[in-house]
Amino acid sequence: MTEKEISQHLFEYQKIIQTSLDGFWVVSVDDARILEVNEAFCRMVGYSRAELLSMSISDLEAVESPEELAIHLKKVAESGYDRFETRHRHKLGHLIDLEVSVSYSGLDSRTHFAFARDITEHKRAEEALRASERQFRALAENFPDTLIRYDREGHRTYVNPALERIFAVAGKQVIGVSPRDVNPLGLPEIYQHALRHTLATGESCEFEMQLPQRSGIVGTGFVKIAAERGADGQISGAISIGRDITKLKQAEQQLRELAAHLQSVREEEKTRLAREIHDDLGSTLAALKLRLSHLMDFELPDNMKETTLFTRLESMSQILESAIASTRRIVTDMRPDVLDNLGLFAALKWQAERFNQHTGIACRIVCANDDNCADCKRCEFHLDETLSINLFRIFQEALSNVARHSGASSVKAEYRPAVDHVFLLISDDGCGLPDGHVPASTSFGIRGMRERVVQLGGQIKFDSPGGSGLCVTVILPLTSVDTANVGGRA
Ligand SMILES: Nc1ncnc2c1ncn2[C@@H]1O[C@H](COP(=O)(O)OP(=O)(O)OP(=O)(O)O)[C@@H](O)[C@H]1O
Ligand SMILES: [Mg+2]
Repeated sequence: MTEKEISQHLFEYQKIIQTSLDGFWVVSVDDARILEVNEAFCRMVGYSRAELLSMSISDLEAVESPEELAIHLKKVAESGYDRFETRHRHKLGHLIDLEVSVSYSGLDSRTHFAFARDITEHKRAEEALRASERQFRALAENFPDTLIRYDREGHRTYVNPALERIFAVAGKQVIGVSPRDVNPLGLPEIYQHALRHTLATGESCEFEMQLPQRSGIVGTGFVKIAAERGADGQISGAISIGRDITKLKQAEQQLRELAAHLQSVREEEKTRLAREIHDDLGSTLAALKLRLSHLMDFELPDNMKETTLFTRLESMSQILESAIASTRRIVTDMRPDVLDNLGLFAALKWQAERFNQHTGIACRIVCANDDNCADCKRCEFHLDETLSINLFRIFQEALSNVARHSGASSVKAEYRPAVDHVFLLISDDGCGLPDGHVPASTSFGIRGMRERVVQLGGQIKFDSPGGSGLCVTVILPLTSVDTANVGGRA
């Protein structure tokens, strides 16, 4: 190669080095003095080229001492090449992370040249990731609920100690496998389905499931599965948290049974009181009225008819009449005898008429099987007493709400007894419930309706389509006795 060619090559190399985004320097092996730097390195460390050419690389080095650096440079001289990470101190005092590849110069045996890349941001991101991973672990390890982490393909990447304890498995038995391939936790299909759904769509799932028998617990778990996303927003995996809510469910069930018991005791008490008032007070008042009318029927001389005595007797008779009427009303309010005598549908009809008379709001209840009533007659059938009284009380509360809150001018109700269930719909044309309506903590009507329905294993819905009026739909399953009888009549 001619001298001209050599200087041409050197010129080109220099151009490449000066335009490179990576830092570049040449140092002397003997004293680590900086012999050459490029623009990128000047920018990285904040010094000018002139300043750097008067410095040694150990003035910048923040990890290795000058002695360690000297040893390092010698090692590079022996092996010819090295690649490592280090830190330099910027002119302003802060540290910068560098990835350095250094070569022992072949041109001059006393120099090294190096390329350095600023990896400060990368290091910071790595450290932030490690810190968040540490935080996650600290949280997960001490979490009382079970926690499972999945990768994008649904392979478990982490299970916490609570899961190992509750499911009596070692983490290594279940990490790395997909619940689809191996299911040592015995997680049911509902779980697998939810996990697939979350990984595919990113939507969270919350559900209750039977705890796998394998855990030795027969109970209920509450599970939430949520997607994890990477910095690019893409789904990178999922995290599943599970809580054993068996005790909560048992307590809920006990509370429900207690409420049902109290409800039925209350109804029994009302029935007993109603009967006593009717039989005792009612018959006393009736006897009193009879005697009073006998008294008034006595032949009094004409001049006595207008006397104070006769007027008082008449007034007593009116008071007695009103006491008899009040007693009847109280007895009926406590327990409408139409319910016991004529059955649920007749009682609902009677309640609808009474509501209309008291409030002026038109109220009509029809049996949905009316068209073929002659063949059906299900509406006449006496259902189980608990079911009848509950449905009747729900109807009463729904009507009371219409009168108090809806501003409606009419209510339509539909009763539909079927073979294995009974259906009741009450709809008004009032203001309806606003979207997302949550009853006040002091309101018990709707809560009570729901509770009655849940106790009987049924369903209840409150709809306000388009905000016009409220439609309450109740479906209650019939007891086996009812089913046999109602079915038999069909
Ligand atoms: N038919 C209806 N039309 C409009 N709003 C209604 C209707 N029924 C209920 N609401 C609303 O729902 C709320 C809750 O009803 P709920 O029966 O639970 O309680 P309440 O009637 O206020 O009190 P109570 O405990 O005496 O029944 C009512 O306060 C009312 O705002
Ligand atoms: Mg109410």
